[in-house]
Amino acid sequence: DWEMGSFAKDTIESLRETIGDKKVLCGLSGGVDSSVAAMLVHRAVGKNLTCIFVDHGLLRKGEGDLVEQVFKKEFDINLLRVNAGERFLSKLRGVTDPERKRKIIGEEFIRVFEAEAAKLGKVELLCQGTIYPDVVESGSGQAAVIKSHHNVGGLPEDVGFEGIVEPLRDLFKDEVRRVGMELGIPEKLVWRQPFPGPGLAVRIIGEITEDRVKTLQEADAIFREEVANAGLEREIGQYFAVLTGTRSVGVMGDGRSYGETVALRAVNTTDFMTADWYQMPYEVLGRASNRIVNEVPGVTRVVYDVTSKPPATIEWE
Ligand code: XMP
Repeated sequence: DWEMGSFAKDTIESLRETIGDKKVLCGLSGGVDSSVAAMLVHRAVGKNLTCIFVDHGLLRKGEGDLVEQVFKKEFDINLLRVNAGERFLSKLRGVTDPERKRKIIGEEFIRVFEAEAAKLGKVELLCQGTIYPDVVESGSGQAAVIKSHHNVGGLPEDVGFEGIVEPLRDLFKDEVRRVGMELGIPEKLVWRQPFPGPGLAVRIIGEITEDRVKTLQEADAIFREEVANAGLEREIGQYFAVLTGTRSVGVMGDGRSYGETVALRAVNTTDFMTADWYQMPYEVLGRASNRIVNEVPGVTRVVYDVTSKPPATIEWE
């Protein structure tokens, strides 16, 4: 602890020195890495840091507001939240192919970010939440691209900045979390489970519509709540709901229904390259399932994913 305490202090000091009077821009995703990186830079240069948070409308329920609340209200950071949900949805209309979804979201994300950045006038530096495993990964060259990962914190380096500030380059995830706690970032953000850059788009099989996003957000929120109620939040590496795109027949009162099937997924992993499906207690699954079919309109069936990685991947798309 003593060591990391000095890491934060030393880093803030050296950032202050290297940044000087320059203006810094940071893309916030709500993830732990970009949050901690931004907070360090904020401590160093205060209002000379501006954060842009592109809300693509595909975040989990309540997440956009949480990011705004923490950074703008609690820490008084210059934060621009861009509510671009409609723009993303219209670009994604009719698109069902996973890789195309990722590509569209990645490109659109950069476009929105750049348009917002252009309004700020001269900004010399770009802050990124790159951590040590990212550095290693990009250096080694993967054998094959399984999924074209798009990280909303990551932007191309050629967008006209003088330099890049990467205060977390030497840290592993758990160290980043410790620094985050020391900086007073709320646990909800520091312990946030990983969330793919393209967001719920890759957890909605088939076409993405406003209604389906809403349906998944509600189902996912219930699942998360039940996991939290059972005290399992920190036991599970990643857990979420998926809208499978499969419809199935159900009974509702006297009638027949034909609604969406939600899959629940929970895995444990050390490096996200491999993962074991999590042996979720039946009571937790039962409560989540009951609540989802009762509380979320349009969902008539809930299943649990019992596949490990490999051969499956963690996400469904
Ligand atoms: P898969 O599904 O490939 O996921 O087993 C491994 C980890 O990566 C996350 N993931 C992504 N993260 N952009 C991201 O930033 C993406 O496009 C993306 N796709 C998957 C996934 O949530 C898991 O933690």
